[in-house]
Amino acid sequence: MTPKAESYLQRLFVSGLKEAYYAKKKIARAFPEIAGIPEAKTVSEAFKIQQQQTERHIERLERVFSQLRISAQSNICPAIDGLIEQRSWIVEDYRDTQAIDAGLLAAVRAVHHYEIALYQTLVSWARELGNMDAADLLKITLQEEQEAEATLASLAERDANTRALEIAA
Ligand SMILES: [Fe+2]
Repeated sequence: MTPKAESYLQRLFVSGLKEAYYAKKKIARAFPEIAGIPEAKTVSEAFKIQQQQTERHIERLERVFSQLRISAQSNICPAIDGLIEQRSWIVEDYRDTQAIDAGLLAAVRAVHHYEIALYQTLVSWARELGNMDAADLLKITLQEEQEAEATLASLAERDANTRALEIAA
């Protein structure tokens, strides 16, 4: 059987899905490690909720893969590795200080921003390809990402950043 012809955009789309799959799995592994660190219960609760959301995001990507009749695979994504790696110095240097929540929120917000950019692209490519089912599924995740980012922004601006104003030891 000859392979089905596909557009470059379809190829880009599938590569993007694999990148998202890698990123989501990496994020799902990172959340439990950081959820117990924040000083404020509101911050650790927000991380826990977002961890559960990430599991649903993974399932949603698996639905898109199965709808495309391809196996769910990851494409290594050094960008997300770097964004997650970045949090290690925040934890090392600021754990047990009044700045830990401000630092962690900044790190996780950067991850959400990366995901928002990725999912915005995936939604528009899915639409361009006429794959409205995929576009709708990816749009749900995109909206949750945007809400998650807004939640963390408000936790930072209403409380965590102010606490970090404490004079450094
Ligand atoms: Fe996210």
